[in-house]
Amino acid sequence: METNNLPHHVGIIMDGNGRWAKSKGKPRSYGHRVGSDNVERVVTHAFERGVKVISLYAFSSENWARPKEEVDELMRLLKVYFTKFIKKFTKKGVRLNVMGDISALTPELQKVILDGKQKTEKFTEYVLNIGMNYGGRQEIVMAVNKLIQEGKPITVESISQNLYTFDMGEPDLIIRTGGELRLSNFMLYQGAYSELYFTDVLWPEFSPKEFDLALTDYAGRKRRFGKVQ
Ligand code: FPP
Repeated sequence: METNNLPHHVGIIMDGNGRWAKSKGKPRSYGHRVGSDNVERVVTHAFERGVKVISLYAFSSENWARPKEEVDELMRLLKVYFTKFIKKFTKKGVRLNVMGDISALTPELQKVILDGKQKTEKFTEYVLNIGMNYGGRQEIVMAVNKLIQEGKPITVESISQNLYTFDMGEPDLIIRTGGELRLSNFMLYQGAYSELYFTDVLWPEFSPKEFDLALTDYAGRKRRFGKVQ
């Protein structure tokens, strides 16, 4: 497989859990469970391939509007898997980070997140950054308000330095599974020059092989950042 021109930072919008479960005659929660297992599989593979930072959209600030049982199940899964990731990724030198307003999450989930961040804060080579109660617009507003409160100038750079991702750079590549062609409030500021890759494959079936197809596609892109080559 093509390994030069590898993205340093990949963002993933993991869509399609519900439709996948429905196609199997199962409840949506089953799709989220299998989707959660797939997170571990794909993230492990991506780090093995040499990607250094992975940002995932796990729960958006708009996802609260889903039926209560579904929200509860997603929260439960996030707690279980975040705990699992702490164990697994502390052995592999991965720093865990969460972007989003975690104050709205359950106290237990907040505690797990803070514990995971603290246990992995010394790691510098790999980052797993998970969006929980995350919205790109809200993040920009938060950063600008912080600058206003501190009486600092509002510039492209100062906003960037006050986003959740201030120390991990911008995604070179954003992948969206599940067939929709939009960003849905994911990393709006950081994604200004990201290459976008859309696939119809539903998240539970997005395999390491599918991830490699996205990397191969990315390797052939010409990034100009608004300039002439
Ligand atoms: C979109 O599928 C997916 C979500 C809203 C949640 C993504 C969450 C996970 C993959 C599981 C937990 C995450 C981690 C990091 C362990 P959808 O429900 O919108 O599917 P649909 O479009 O088919 O309805």
